[in-house]
Amino acid sequence: MIKYEQIKSLLFKLKPETAHHLAEFVLRLPNKSQFLFNPFLKSHFIADDILTQEIFGRKFYNPIGLGAGFDKNATMIRGMQILGFGFTEIGTVTPKSQPGNPKPRMFRHVKENTLQNAMGFNNRGAFEIARRVKWRYPFTTPIGINIGKNKITPEKEAINDYISLIKTFKDLGDYFVINISSPNTPGLRDLQNEEFITKLFEDAKALTKKPILLKIAPDMTPEDAVALTKLAVEKGADGIIATNTTIDYSLVENPADIGGLSGAVLKQKSFEIFEAIAKELFGKTILISVGGIDSAQEAYKRIKAGASLIQIYSALVFHGPDLIRDINKELIQLLKADGYANITEAIGADRK
Ligand SMILES: Cc1cc2nc3c(=O)[nH]c(=O)nc-3n(C[C@H](O)[C@H](O)[C@H](O)COP(=O)(O)O)c2cc1C
Repeated sequence: MIKYEQIKSLLFKLKPETAHHLAEFVLRLPNKSQFLFNPFLKSHFIADDILTQEIFGRKFYNPIGLGAGFDKNATMIRGMQILGFGFTEIGTVTPKSQPGNPKPRMFRHVKENTLQNAMGFNNRGAFEIARRVKWRYPFTTPIGINIGKNKITPEKEAINDYISLIKTFKDLGDYFVINISSPNTPGLRDLQNEEFITKLFEDAKALTKKPILLKIAPDMTPEDAVALTKLAVEKGADGIIATNTTIDYSLVENPADIGGLSGAVLKQKSFEIFEAIAKELFGKTILISVGGIDSAQEAYKRIKAGASLIQIYSALVFHGPDLIRDINKELIQLLKADGYANITEAIGADRK
């Protein structure tokens, strides 16, 4: 068997975005002939009863999901299931297709197991992506639709973009995520305010019964994060995803001057914000933790702090696809060692 370390040393010789395209090429293959990948699915997709839970009316066979931004155009949903992910978040999708920011816009900080990206929501647009999802929906594993505004849409009209996206995807996917936390669309994070959140959730909830979650940035005080997420839940949000990438460039040695950092250096910051939110909102809404998660220990810590689900992006790049299987297998051991019969008993155990 080829080890990921060998593949990685080749992949890391390529520009990050080229390596991503190559990974996408491979991960699209199961769309054509899934049976060829059945052995990998069998060995990597962990679906033990102890990890299985029902959320948003769907079965999540394991709690490890793919974070948004890897499968922006919904081309790899089957591939991600084969890698072992229990759910996949596609997008960020914008109403119209857009090219994203000029290249280079993705950087590796190899020593720090950290990525820096300023992609700027490059995607094929809602119409094409919805058509692709519709072709195969529903999938065995739940999928989230992460939505954002187009770069050219003025801030004052941003709400129309979110509403039009919800209309386009209203019969597709298992949950929505409102993304107003990317650092790479000018003015987007300014939408993390009371007026916008109030109006958005009021309008959006009138359009769909599907769960709508809010994804937040880590670059605010824990107090502000709590106030914002509390408000969102009061206005109808069905869950919170914490967090997106950080613009705290002091966390790496040689930062580029654009984009947000993810991976190992985000771990602590993301957890601090998650903890603060969980103290306030655990038991009142569904919490998803993301940012720097790269081991079963870290995943378990977030689960016990109140996360029903967790997501991974950067660690997949640095540690390879076996990581998802390994985390799930070790999670089973950790749960059993603590005497839990099902993951739901461990969620928020540190809060009780
Ligand atoms: C290259 C790249 C692109 C991303 N694109 C998106 C995106 O389009 N929408 C989004 O909500 N988050 C996006 N993210 C953020 C991730 O979903 C996640 O919140 C963040 O990377 C922290 O998790 P990690 O430390 O496991 O990578 C992106 C991250 C990376 C590295």
